[in-house]
Amino acid sequence: MPSTKKPLAIYPGTFDPITNGHIDIALRSLNIFDHLVIAIVNNPNKQALFSIQERLDLLQNSFADVHDRISFDTFDGLLVDFCRTKNISCIVRGLRAVADFEYEFQLAHMNKRIDPKIDTMFLMTDERNFYVSSSLIKEVAALHGDVEEFVPDHVNQALVRKFKP
Ligand code: COA
Repeated sequence: MPSTKKPLAIYPGTFDPITNGHIDIALRSLNIFDHLVIAIVNNPNKQALFSIQERLDLLQNSFADVHDRISFDTFDGLLVDFCRTKNISCIVRGLRAVADFEYEFQLAHMNKRIDPKIDTMFLMTDERNFYVSSSLIKEVAALHGDVEEFVPDHVNQALVRKFKP
């Protein structure tokens, strides 16, 4: 009997840095898809703390247990163009608080207008990560607060190194 799973999806984002919230979304999407491409957007509008290479390294270390089912990439330009070049037709996004909805709604619809064959699937963020964001993590870490509850250990260490007095 043929597999009913969709083989491939993309989880795009800035991942500056990856948090437990992102990891939860990525791992849960592996229950639906055979393979996930986690792609870092090179977004010139966001001032990043970690370089693209640093973010890639942090991502790779976060998924060592499932490395055969997740691959990593980076892209510039339109997400739908990247999806087309990789032959991916499903975008995975996490939804946190209500505030995410309008932005995600706009993105999903705009992407669909550009390419109707590409769909977006939303997973509800785990309640423990409902208010976690990379910016908030960086703000707390910059002020030497403890963020170990919200990020994997290697990300916590990378943040501590970045903000070492
Ligand atoms: N847990 C914790 N935090 C989460 C989260 C989760 N499950 N899901 C999202 N976030 C946070 C991120 O940490 C990030 O926080 P920050 O703003 O403080 O850094 C924030 O939510 C949103 O970031 P992210 O998910 O990385 O998305 P983004 O808004 O940076 O980028 C893209 C979204 C990549 C999908 C979009 O910018 C894109 O498609 N860019 C390519 C250009 C393009 O095609 N543009 C046209 C779009 S129609």
